[in-house]
Amino acid sequence: MSHFPKDFLWGGAVAAHQLEGGWDQGGKGISIADVMTAGGNGIPRRITNGVIPGENYPNHEGIDFYHHYRDDIKLFGELGMKAFRTSIAWTRIFPNGDDAEPCEEGLAFYDDMFDACHEQGIEPVITLQHFEMPYHLATEYNGFADKRCIDFFERFARVCFERYKGKVKYWMTFNEINNQAAAPIAHHMLQEGAVLNIDKDNAEQLMYQASVNELIASAKAVKACHEIDPDAMIGCMIAFCPLYAATCNPKDQIEKTWADHKRYWYCDVHAKGRVPQYMFRYWERMGFNIDLSEEEIAVLKQGVVDYIGFSYYMSFAVAARDDNPDFNFYEAGIPGVGEAANDIVPNEYLKVSDWGWPIDPLGLRYALNWFYERYDQPLMIVENGFGAYDKVEADGSIDDSYRIDYLREHIRAMIDAVEKDGVDLLGYTMWAPIDIVSASSGEMDKRYGFIFVDKNNAGEGTLARSRKKSFYWYQRLIATNGADLG
Ligand code: BG6
Repeated sequence: MSHFPKDFLWGGAVAAHQLEGGWDQGGKGISIADVMTAGGNGIPRRITNGVIPGENYPNHEGIDFYHHYRDDIKLFGELGMKAFRTSIAWTRIFPNGDDAEPCEEGLAFYDDMFDACHEQGIEPVITLQHFEMPYHLATEYNGFADKRCIDFFERFARVCFERYKGKVKYWMTFNEINNQAAAPIAHHMLQEGAVLNIDKDNAEQLMYQASVNELIASAKAVKACHEIDPDAMIGCMIAFCPLYAATCNPKDQIEKTWADHKRYWYCDVHAKGRVPQYMFRYWERMGFNIDLSEEEIAVLKQGVVDYIGFSYYMSFAVAARDDNPDFNFYEAGIPGVGEAANDIVPNEYLKVSDWGWPIDPLGLRYALNWFYERYDQPLMIVENGFGAYDKVEADGSIDDSYRIDYLREHIRAMIDAVEKDGVDLLGYTMWAPIDIVSASSGEMDKRYGFIFVDKNNAGEGTLARSRKKSFYWYQRLIATNGADLG
């Protein structure tokens, strides 16, 4: 007998800054994403000092969803999507972040977008902060390094809960909040918390301070959501990459445990309402002075999430480093595994994508069990997908069988976790149903979609949408509630 839930939220996920465009329309202010240039495969994006004429900022246009959203959402409806995860661009609501009043035009834009979703029978799943701080908060306050940003975020969250009460049932606070602890470079501090002013010597302490402030902001938003709309559910969003001990050497296992602590202590705070002891001890050993008051500790307790959302793309193997028991993740990562902590070693059992991301479907079953055992909370897979180069044939068709293969194997592992392991899973929103700008590289040619968008890395193209082979595959899969894996 199948145990797969009938009301399972099959869907797709995106983020406002990666598809909306309209960066200076509808009263929108400049966000952190608006000052990030295009990078490339292996070429980092640059952060410019304000918007500089002549630079290539791919998020300025995205795929112009701002003007195409009704048609795009119709395509999502045709696909059969039950859920659409996107984010609210903070700068559409509060252009500078610290404005006295919200921007009505921005609020109205999302009102209509959510209506368009409901017309297609699609549930909006909304992230409040997806790599998209108002740039003004970065320049004037140094982002979440400053406690005043906690209040600005809470106000933004409250305005959204009041306005979209009844229209949005599933919320998330910060996208991939834990990325900042995994990356050896400042890039993620900027994306998560808009901390622009980083002194190399205190970078790690500053990262923890900004993280703590974001966690307090998240807890305040959770509390506000519960007060304003008790029927809604609000979750966190963790970037989850299983960390396997590279060998059965107990030292590697200890290293894995410690690496888990560093990457995933955020989840303890979200789901248990407290900072784990190992993190306090680490800060003490490192001599970090983290500002976290008794009152704030009480706030964390009141802000326990209703579910755990997480992204899953890849796993890593970790090996002990005898020379560095408290490894410093700000050292360089190894090539080929993205922004890795320095205890990460290649995993000979896994192939990698064209961007060097290890492909590990079974790791998703591991991930689901890892979360469920620890937190006993409903889970939602809010990102999982395959970035690849697609080839358009002469007749306009696109055979993206590699994408189907990737998704099929991951979904198979997910179904096993639900049916065989009994994990409580609310939904699966793959990344991303339509081609959008890559967050890490700014490329358009790193494609994830079932729907092709005619635009390349140079920004050329008609923006026309067309269906890839995978479109029909996912459509069948949803229609059969996961039974027809193709
Ligand atoms: C996740 C982010 O880390 O991965 C998304 O939440 C991002 O914003 C996705 O787009 C895929 O990464 P990339 O760099 O290939 O776009």
